[in-house]
Amino acid sequence: MVTETQQRLDETHAAAAPVIEVRELVKVYKGGTRAVDGVSFTVAEGEFFGFLGPNGAGKTTTIRILATLLRPTSGSAKVSGIDVLAHPGEVRREVGFAMQTVAVDPLATGRENLELIGRLRRVPASELQGRIDELLVLMKLTESQKKVVGTYSGGMKRRLDLATALLHRPKVLFLDEPTEGLDPQSRNALWEELESVNRSGTTMFLTTHYMEEADRLCKRIAIVDEGKIVVEGTPAELKRTVGNDVVELQLEADSPNELERQRSGIGRMLEGFEPVAEIKSSPAGVQLYVSDAAAAIPELVRRLDGDGIRIGALTMHQPSLDDVFMRYTGKTIREEQANVHFTGWY
Ligand SMILES: Nc1ncnc2c1ncn2[C@@H]1O[C@H](COP(=O)(O)OP(=O)(O)O)[C@@H](O)[C@H]1O
Ligand SMILES: [Mg+2]
Repeated sequence: MVTETQQRLDETHAAAAPVIEVRELVKVYKGGTRAVDGVSFTVAEGEFFGFLGPNGAGKTTTIRILATLLRPTSGSAKVSGIDVLAHPGEVRREVGFAMQTVAVDPLATGRENLELIGRLRRVPASELQGRIDELLVLMKLTESQKKVVGTYSGGMKRRLDLATALLHRPKVLFLDEPTEGLDPQSRNALWEELESVNRSGTTMFLTTHYMEEADRLCKRIAIVDEGKIVVEGTPAELKRTVGNDVVELQLEADSPNELERQRSGIGRMLEGFEPVAEIKSSPAGVQLYVSDAAAAIPELVRRLDGDGIRIGALTMHQPSLDDVFMRYTGKTIREEQANVHFTGWY
């Protein structure tokens, strides 16, 4: 007999079952480029998972293999428990993808594009119009649905592309650099849309070279470089591996001398306080490099109470994902990007 607790455990287990399972994936292109070099990872149902890495890291190659658009040289990949090589057609029914190139017809209206793709995707006619209405609302395109797509802004085209990818209610959505080339405002808007798609239960697999994007959207990240996963974890875990949090103290001082006096006072008062690894001057006060700021702040504040130290503001931040990339590869993503010339969509 299956008890209620047992059943609940089983459900919990099922909820955590991997939706994407990749084992030792390798892709060598003709000519010998090892674009993907032994990559393994799993993504659980409902997760928002990201590949973060510079241009040429192998992100597009990996995502195209998972979306059944490209065959691997070796290794295996399953999506929703289905092998991508053995049953690509079945996998395609479970997934949606929005790739670097927007795949909509510029001469048709937004709604016509959705109707066409919906029929191609065999969305039942009885459901299609309602589903289109829903997606137009989700992607904030209701008002522009009757305009020809050629007149859409870059952000609108991306949102329409996303809507087409979601028509058949895929379990997994693959997104290759979804906000590449968008201005900051459209990028922010698209982030919100992606978050709401994920909240509705869709498992997300995204690639990006924007660390802010990976940080904001992804619950878990694999940092990739030269065809390999360098390190994997939640953004917070990854940043902790870099070491210290930064605590910024803004001091209230009437004169530069007074500011300097307070700075030295802080140095003296924090002498021997182990969580503080380093103290640096900042324009309006000091920056403290602290091993676990959240835990250390109460004692920190207690120690700084008195002796004329007047703290105007205390803020803390964690190291960025760029600090993490630097720690594991010795390069920064920004530098890498700066060295790459824009060659258009491919
Ligand atoms: N069709 C192809 N033929 C040969 N080499 C390719 C092809 N596509 C990509 N590459 C190479 O494979 C490597 C990984 O590319 P890609 O997967 O596009 O990386 P990313 O998406 O991270 O920028 C790069 O060195 C790239 O030049
Ligand atoms: Mg790419």
